[in-house]
Amino acid sequence: MNYSKNLNFIFRLPTKIVFGPGTAKEVGMEVDELKRTRALIVTDRDLVKTNLVNIVRKAMGTRCVGIFSDVTPDTGVHIVNTGSEYGRALGADILVSVGGGSAIDTSKGMAICLSKGGRLEDYSGINILGSPLMPHIVIPTTAGTGSEVTYAAVIKDHDQNRKLLFADNFLVPNVAILDPNMTVGMPKSLTAATGMDALCHCIEAIHSLQREPIADGLAFHGIRLIKEFLPRAMQNGEDIVARGQMLIAATIGGAAFSNAQVGMVHALAHCIGARFGVPHGVANSILLPHCILYNLDACPDLYALIAEAMGKEVKGMDPLKAAEQAAIAIWEFTKALGMPQSLREVNVDESGLAQCANDALMDGAIVYNPKPIFDSEEVLKVYQKAF
Ligand SMILES: [Fe+2]
Repeated sequence: MNYSKNLNFIFRLPTKIVFGPGTAKEVGMEVDELKRTRALIVTDRDLVKTNLVNIVRKAMGTRCVGIFSDVTPDTGVHIVNTGSEYGRALGADILVSVGGGSAIDTSKGMAICLSKGGRLEDYSGINILGSPLMPHIVIPTTAGTGSEVTYAAVIKDHDQNRKLLFADNFLVPNVAILDPNMTVGMPKSLTAATGMDALCHCIEAIHSLQREPIADGLAFHGIRLIKEFLPRAMQNGEDIVARGQMLIAATIGGAAFSNAQVGMVHALAHCIGARFGVPHGVANSILLPHCILYNLDACPDLYALIAEAMGKEVKGMDPLKAAEQAAIAIWEFTKALGMPQSLREVNVDESGLAQCANDALMDGAIVYNPKPIFDSEEVLKVYQKAF
């Protein structure tokens, strides 16, 4: 492996990770360890009707002062501000998010408002927070976003129809409790989509211009875990071992990409998600092999290693043919999972792709892509292949 270009790097993983079936019940101990007494649960409208939130509430006993359950799939600035007002009224001194990326990001936004005062809109940007926030414990109920260990939150300003990015090392959650029992009820389609998001994080961390050996180690292991355990989790949602290893894969994918960054797959997927409402993991899953083929000659050695991690035999092959096996492996994998294979299948309107191609060039992730892209026509060609 060639690391001659990235001799210097910083790697951060400050989140304490607690893993194991039943560990959600240890949340009270984690609150105590952080020396807090008034916990507010942040979750979504569907989860609050399930027993999952109840388990966490019971485990916290009198430490739990309330539940904020207004989070929607595409969370918004107004939701964060409402939740923050609620938390302030209750005198909350710690946040416990229970849910997927949307609940976790809402909680990150609330941590900003509850610590700094004011409204969330005032804090959009990169590294502007300047001091630690209210502590945040995450209990994920999906295995994909990696948000439990990342420094970023994406929250939509629904009034202005734009997504705001909050990126700051102070946003990294203090504790992630990875309890596979909390993900067993996840429907098949969500299991597949979030699992493919995690696979994209791993692969994009490896091909990123900011790749480095520690993130690579995590990401390659993440790929192997997903290859083995995502099909198992799909086949039997109650397979605790598979659910657990998928949680780990998502978390280490998050740790890898929050240090090494992601590239064009995410840039292109963000625009398809924003314009056509395609779920993030589904858009990533469709675009990933096409982006690998676009990037193929930029880093064929890395794609050959990714193909091997996906179970392909590439020894002795021509380097570009070996690299191509990574894209082929992903198509085979997503077909077997029953996932959509084209943008057409997920109701993307072809006439909107040119605008998406322009937007993708403005996405922060594109600058880390292994093959530099400055021409929206190039992006459009990738979209059209995926269409
Ligand atoms: Fe992602």
